Amino acid sequence: MFGHLSLLAALFFIGTLKDFRVAGLRLTEVRIPMYVIKGTAAQLECLYDLDGEALYSVKWYKDGNEFYRYVPRDMPPAQTFLLPGVNVDLHNSSDAIVTLRNVNLQSAGRFRCEVSGEAPSFQTVTEHGDMIVAYLPDEGSPKISGGRPRYQIGDYVRVNCTAGRSKPAVKLSWQVNGEPVEQQKLRKYDTIVSGRDGLETSVLGLQFRVEQKHFRKGNMKLKCIAELSTVYWRCNEESVEGDRPQKAPVLESRETVYASNSRADPVQASSTASAPSTPITPLVLLPVALAVMVMATLAQGITRDIDTDKISMDRTAPGGIGITKETQQARELLAGRKEENRRTSHGKSATQLEKIALTAR
Ligand SMILES: *[C@@H]1O[C@H](CO)[C@@H](O)[C@H](O)[C@H]1NC(C)=O
Ligand SMILES: *[C@@H]1O[C@H](CO)[C@@H](O)[C@H](O)[C@H]1NC(C)=O
Repeated sequence: MFGHLSLLAALFFIGTLKDFRVAGLRLTEVRIPMYVIKGTAAQLECLYDLDGEALYSVKWYKDGNEFYRYVPRDMPPAQTFLLPGVNVDLHNSSDAIVTLRNVNLQSAGRFRCEVSGEAPSFQTVTEHGDMIVAYLPDEGSPKISGGRPRYQIGDYVRVNCTAGRSKPAVKLSWQVNGEPVEQQKLRKYDTIVSGRDGLETSVLGLQFRVEQKHFRKGNMKLKCIAELSTVYWRCNEESVEGDRPQKAPVLESRETVYASNSRADPVQASSTASAPSTPITPLVLLPVALAVMVMATLAQGITRDIDTDKISMDRTAPGGIGITKETQQARELLAGRKEENRRTSHGKSATQLEKIALTAR
């Protein structure tokens, strides 16, 4: 009985002792970038608080293999070990930061930093994070295809948005007049994998029936956005015109167009009838003049008819007047990428600190 109690007491003591020891050396921030663009440098940070102890070593591992070691007592303190895809820039590395040059697909993996204090305690703290190497889309902005320059109410918009080849696949989304599109209007397709590096092409379709509400001042804006976490953001927008906004549904509105044309004819005929009457004809030639007038009126009426037809056809013909197909190359947030990366890693390290706090308890 007493044996059990003393065992429990001993366990309790070891437990508190362990807590006390972990409270000494601790990691304050570990930043492993989640996405790094191929060909650029990556900075991995491992910040620690020695709490009065001396530093014995900082070691870095990728997928379990050590590639960098910093031991203040060694001369020089920093050394690196060869690993595929890991090219340490020693000049830009220290006890707290490791810089990897020119990252490639092999550089991706799980990175762990391990900080150890001096004898006699040799306490060690460790934390890890995963890094993905991204190939940005190779063809600039996403492409919009299958669109028409004009739509009428009741028509179907059926368009595709295709991103350039990348890794991982970019996330595509559609907006109509600046507003996100409901799920049921999206057509999802499998990404197309190609080439030796297995680069991926994303395609996202948009399909919906055009309604009056889709036109703002006679225009409808279809925008496709391509994103890759915080390292890439590009969009492409197409502006399409509606055929003269009409209150009536499409079939009726077509009829209205024809009806107004036929109504215009008599008006034109009557106005042209007055024109030939201006020249003063001698009374003797009145019957002849009348005959000429009738013929002229008819002839003019016909030409006017043809003219109005031509005009109205031009107005409705696809590819006619007023087509604005503007391709908007939108802002690329690559410039702000570092900032955002920083924010992400802050968030990450915050959770990591929580984790560390938990292990300490
Ligand atoms: C690496 O160090 C050089 C100077 O030694 C500096 O110009 C360069 O900006 C550094 N690169 C990084 C990624 O810190
Ligand atoms: C959109 O892309 C898919 C997959 O490539 C294809 O099957 C479909 O016909 C395309 N639609 C349009 C409107 O281009």
